[in-house]
Amino acid sequence: MIDPRTILPPRGHHPSVRIADFALERYFARWEFAVRHVLCASDVEGWSMAELLALADEETRSIWDGLRLGYTESTGHPLLRREIAALYDSISADDVLVFAGAEEAIFCLMTTALAGGDHVVVTWPGYQSLYEVARSAGAKVGLHLLREEDGWALDVDRLVASFHAETRMVVVNAPHNPTGMLPTTEEWRRLAEACSSRGIRLVADEVYRFLEHDGGATLPAGADLDERAVSIGVMSKSFALAGLRIGWLATRDRDVLDRCARMKDYTTICSSAPSEVLALIALRARDQVLERSRSIVAANLEVLDSFFARRPDVFTWVRPRGGSTGFPRLVQGGPAGSSADRFAARLVEQTGVLLLPSSTFGFGDSHVRVGLGRTDLPEAIGKLEAALA
Ligand SMILES: Cc1ncc(COP(=O)(O)O)c(C=O)c1O
Repeated sequence: MIDPRTILPPRGHHPSVRIADFALERYFARWEFAVRHVLCASDVEGWSMAELLALADEETRSIWDGLRLGYTESTGHPLLRREIAALYDSISADDVLVFAGAEEAIFCLMTTALAGGDHVVVTWPGYQSLYEVARSAGAKVGLHLLREEDGWALDVDRLVASFHAETRMVVVNAPHNPTGMLPTTEEWRRLAEACSSRGIRLVADEVYRFLEHDGGATLPAGADLDERAVSIGVMSKSFALAGLRIGWLATRDRDVLDRCARMKDYTTICSSAPSEVLALIALRARDQVLERSRSIVAANLEVLDSFFARRPDVFTWVRPRGGSTGFPRLVQGGPAGSSADRFAARLVEQTGVLLLPSSTFGFGDSHVRVGLGRTDLPEAIGKLEAALA
């Protein structure tokens, strides 16, 4: 019985809600829906409802038609969790917890799996919530710098050398936003093994999984490589359904899922009923869904390759190995100037084409993110090129 006269002390896990602004999201809040061409989106062009519903099988069509809009199971629709589990080798439906996007999954994971003083290493430049939420939860965050001169490659030896006695978690996003970094399967296994043998939890942000370029291999999922590892997935990127806001955590570590479920009681409680069914439909038709995404991205990569080949005086281009973004650098003293902030501001003003300057990643002022997933990319690149001329 709570004494109503008391001021309640914090109990259990209690993350701070004081957290730095999410710089990229603030930038998108200003621009995303105010411009003609979002040339820096990380998602793939969304499916229309009609096209997606046309993929439904008999069972999912009848679930859709008979859907009642009450609360849903807080862990996620059982059929959806089963379908998500099928993306992994060693994961069952009960090893999956569904969230409102990968973003909620990251928030719940970082605020419950870390304690004050824990050391966490996160790939960088990168998606801010992967390190910012950990930092706001009191963790000491070390950033593993991906270097352009290494082709943005993950340096497993340097990463492992940064571990110390307090290191509890390693967070790797691969394929990587914004650089398109994708380790080899051998490097990836070596990292998982290094984490496993030291009792460090590997958190694999795999939201761009299945978007590997040029026949590159899909990495084994983190959650399949170690019992304590956690895989983060979402419908937004490779599956081209960002508007569903359906994401998940997959791990054989049930304690992690249990803690996250308790946090989710304070965030969304349960997922949107229509979104769960639409995600189920898409996952059952995943071959077709992924094929569409891969072909959009592959066609756009060709357009970008030839644009960057035509304008080496303006940009240097490290071709992404996976995912739906790339991170070209402005040539210092080139015709576009040296400041990515100023270039992006001028470009959007003059042409309605939006690029994402690297300052939104806290990563200097020389790079811009380009997105490979939108079907208006050729038109947007045409406008960019005309503006440069
Ligand atoms: C690496 C990474 N993780 C997680 C997310 C979050 O995905 P969502 O916005 O669909 O929740 C994103 C989105 O850009 C991302 O790039």
